[in-house]
Amino acid sequence: MPDGASRSAIGADVPDTRKRIVVGVGGGIAAYKSCALIRDFTEAGHKVRVVPTESALEFVGRATFEALSGNPVQTGVFTDVPQVPHVRLGQEADLVVVAPATADLLARAVMGRADDLLTATLLTARCPVVFAPAMHTEMWEHPATVANVATLRARGVTVVEPASGRLTGKDTGAGRLPEPEEIAGLATLLLERPDALPRDLEGRRVLVSAGGTREPLDPVRFLGNRSSGKQGYAIARLAAQRGAEVILVSGYTAGLDEPAAVETVHVRTAEDMKVAVDKEAGRCDVVVMAAAVADFRPSTSVTSKIKKGAGEPDAIALTKNPDILAGVVQARRDGEIPASTLVVGFAAETGDADGDVLTYARAKLRRKGCDLLVVNAVGEGKAFEVDHNDGWLLSADGSESALEHGSKALMASRVLDAVSAALDPAGGE
Ligand code: PMT
Repeated sequence: MPDGASRSAIGADVPDTRKRIVVGVGGGIAAYKSCALIRDFTEAGHKVRVVPTESALEFVGRATFEALSGNPVQTGVFTDVPQVPHVRLGQEADLVVVAPATADLLARAVMGRADDLLTATLLTARCPVVFAPAMHTEMWEHPATVANVATLRARGVTVVEPASGRLTGKDTGAGRLPEPEEIAGLATLLLERPDALPRDLEGRRVLVSAGGTREPLDPVRFLGNRSSGKQGYAIARLAAQRGAEVILVSGYTAGLDEPAAVETVHVRTAEDMKVAVDKEAGRCDVVVMAAAVADFRPSTSVTSKIKKGAGEPDAIALTKNPDILAGVVQARRDGEIPASTLVVGFAAETGDADGDVLTYARAKLRRKGCDLLVVNAVGEGKAFEVDHNDGWLLSADGSESALEHGSKALMASRVLDAVSAALDPAGGE
């Protein structure tokens, strides 16, 4: 069988598309979370080599890493010498992810140390490298760590923003390792697109709405929609990892975790969402309305459950909800929010006998008056709920571009490229 090929279930030689991922594990209490990360990668079909530091093995045993990855695990450069693993692992990797990255490990990477297998691998890797730091808030905020993170980022390394929350012991604050699924999502985005996480939104404040609103009819029933929140959450997550301060106004989702380093405000109805968006829009450089907002709500909502009764049910009268996106555009026209605020809408569209998706989307862009409109063709299992998306990006200046099919994270990265390009360069820090 040729190199780089594998035998498929039906016996034919097929190109081996599995990626080689090195998972580095630093010596911190969050090392246990690396087990779920390794499993995410192996279940996605990737070839994983785990390279812990000696101190990481104080937290998780070698046997666990070997069983999860299906590969031998070593920490030093003097094991298996004929295979020169201290050079080969880094050279052959498609991706290196260090999670958790301790303050000490960041410092050693900055210094270019090569006194164990992990730091030697970091020096020889030419693929995307991701550090997911985890440490106490004081260590994360210490000028030495801040400078080390800046140095690594300046060298093109992705250093993930940590989450805030419960740390070891009873204290809380910034420095918590993001959930393994979130780290895996960011890391595999770099396999799709190695330049997807520039720090081009530093100093910007971005508001993103996501998920669906629910308009109550009675205590148990509501008018809702199928939005899972995945697309909007991906935009919020990536904007934060590209350096922005992000407020996520979230309706109902498919049980998504709050993204790391994002302030999340939960709302229920379209009217709640309008209050939350209007409160923050004036302080933001960008407003992205990815939420699926109900256009109508039941005109009356009762506090006791509507009974089935014997006859046919009454028709439900509906009242129009406020258009939140159009409201933000109007506030900008009226000078209530800065003229430089960039407003991005989404359009979930279907074509019909009178026009195709783009015809309706162009009309929507004019009607809503936003600067950019991300267009999804919906129906037939597309856009809503699924993990992948594609579409078009329309701009108020008349330019149009296709958004290639890929993960919702990839789509988010393309949308943020357009946002970044459209922002007033005088803004931000
Ligand atoms: O959440 P997922 O499962 O990942 O799916 C993603 C998505 C398909 C929901 C998302 O990509 C999307 O297309 N969101 C917008 C869906 C929508 O409601 O489109 P619309 O054509 O009805 O609304 C157009 C724009 O106006 C949207 O930016 C919407 O947020 C906004 N709007 C709509 C109604 C309203 N009352 N107020 C609004 O601000």
